Amino acid sequence: MLSVDDVRANPVVHKLVKVADEHLSAQGYTEHGQRHANLVSHIAGNILARLGYAPRTVELAQIAGYLHDIGNVANRQDHATAGATIALNVLLQMGMDPEEAAIVAGAVGNHEERLGEPISPVSAAVIIADKSDVHRTRVRNPNPALFDIHDRVNDAAQHSFVRIDPERRLVILELTIDQAKASVVDYFEIFLSRMLFIRKSAQFLGCGFQLFINRTQML
Ligand SMILES: [Fe+2]
Ligand SMILES: [Fe+2]
Repeated sequence: MLSVDDVRANPVVHKLVKVADEHLSAQGYTEHGQRHANLVSHIAGNILARLGYAPRTVELAQIAGYLHDIGNVANRQDHATAGATIALNVLLQMGMDPEEAAIVAGAVGNHEERLGEPISPVSAAVIIADKSDVHRTRVRNPNPALFDIHDRVNDAAQHSFVRIDPERRLVILELTIDQAKASVVDYFEIFLSRMLFIRKSAQFLGCGFQLFINRTQML
């Protein structure tokens, strides 16, 4: 069975993740490379593991999490759909079971709120992991005077943690924001739709969603 380590070690996959990030960098987007891919992979797997899903389902979430932004090699706007096609091709070529590859492709293809929906536990976990990744290390604009709101909010985010409470069936996002750099209102201006997408995905997993910013419950 194809493992997440096999996928991560594949030179074609590695190159696609790298070039996808370079294409976003050229358009001024925050970091979407190895750091983001590995983090989303890790968190997506952890969400399903903590909620008691089977180890293979956890591993599929890790694979989908690693591959989810690979479609940015083609185009930012349709990167989820492009990514699903690319992921399916790569995984089938690597010999993955077609049903598993289809689950991963569906998760990749549905991870953006504009065109996507949580359609499986793997998909829901990838959405939650992806949409909760806000952190100052993602900012690459070197000049704070030229920060846009995404740069400012990411720069202000000192800490972001997805906590799973299996007993209470809760997905809890804990953020620490430096309010000298961005306000909570700034945060909601760009992240409200993402928060609602996380909540929808938590509901798909039979969980409630809570958001804490600087220890205050916001949702
Ligand atoms: Fe994405
Ligand atoms: Fe992403």
